[in-house]
Amino acid sequence: MREQLLAAEKVKAIEWRDGALHLLDQRVLPLEEIWRSYHTASEVAEAIRLMIVRGAPAIGIAAAYAVVLAAGKRLAVGGDWRAALQEDFEVLANSRPTAVNLFWALDRMRDRLGRLKPTDDPLALLEAEALGIHQSDREANLTMAQLGVDLIRKHQGNLQNLLTHCNTGALATGGFGTALGVIRGAYLEGLVERVYADETRPWLQGSRLTAWELANEGIPVSLNVDSAAAHLMKTRGITWVIVGADRIAANGDVANKIGTYQLAVSAMHHGVRFMVVAPSSTIDMTIQSGDDIPIEERDGGELLEFNGKRVAAAVEAVNPVFDVTPADLIDFIVTEKGVVERPDAAKMALLMCRKRLH
Ligand code: MRU
Repeated sequence: MREQLLAAEKVKAIEWRDGALHLLDQRVLPLEEIWRSYHTASEVAEAIRLMIVRGAPAIGIAAAYAVVLAAGKRLAVGGDWRAALQEDFEVLANSRPTAVNLFWALDRMRDRLGRLKPTDDPLALLEAEALGIHQSDREANLTMAQLGVDLIRKHQGNLQNLLTHCNTGALATGGFGTALGVIRGAYLEGLVERVYADETRPWLQGSRLTAWELANEGIPVSLNVDSAAAHLMKTRGITWVIVGADRIAANGDVANKIGTYQLAVSAMHHGVRFMVVAPSSTIDMTIQSGDDIPIEERDGGELLEFNGKRVAAAVEAVNPVFDVTPADLIDFIVTEKGVVERPDAAKMALLMCRKRLH
């Protein structure tokens, strides 16, 4: 399946080229495909904040490249460039709060910085670290796709109707996707009848990005409003809900795009299996339970306006953009280190001791 997935690859959203970071602007897809170039850490931090690049693993990868850009600038100025670089780490860390992959990638870059020897070429080694983070996310996508497809085949062998939320594909990762990687793999293996994509209010990651990625590859996809999900589970023979994650706590609670929690409740009620697919860089063992995961709240304008035009009455809006699904509503967490069935703290700790499977 690895070769088939690689051959089917169509979309890339992050490129490191000619000493600059290039991002496909996700705010304007699918109507426009605009690439933007970035040369400083603060520009990249702003791109993360504005969601030009989004999706937990993609945010981490972009931040890693941003550290290389920052190091280049600080080295050119001279002096104690490592101390000065801390300011760039800070700016990047403040871009978005929920996806832990951002902090994980910054920690990896900080650690590499700390291990530089006086004779090393700092820029070359930091660049190699960022490229390594990007490449290993691609590899993790491939491993998770295989593991997720194996689960689908084992639990329901025939054609499946799958439901997904937000965008977890090539646009959100360094490779083919987490949940969408499993869905792509399942399609290539002839296991998919139809994918139901939640539109994912208010930013419309489902209608603008997931539907675009799947339709580009000829995968049968129908778009539905988020509030249709329970009805579709009841009436359309949906067998799996497959989603990604932005941060997984040590007890297996999962923070993901707002609306994921109610999907898990509905899935439990309808006997639909619930799979979370995320690389181990999304697991935060320092956070004991989902209650402690910081939940980003974005501007209410995302709800009050449509295409820049006010559509709501004169009220305030509350706009939390992630929620936490308790571990006991989750059937499987699929990572590149293996699968956790019915997650709890002990199983998550065991998983984190394992090596990557690739
Ligand atoms: O606000 P976004 O679009 O960055 O949120 C993205 C999600 O919630 C995804 O489901 C998650 O990051 C997993 S992406 C592989």
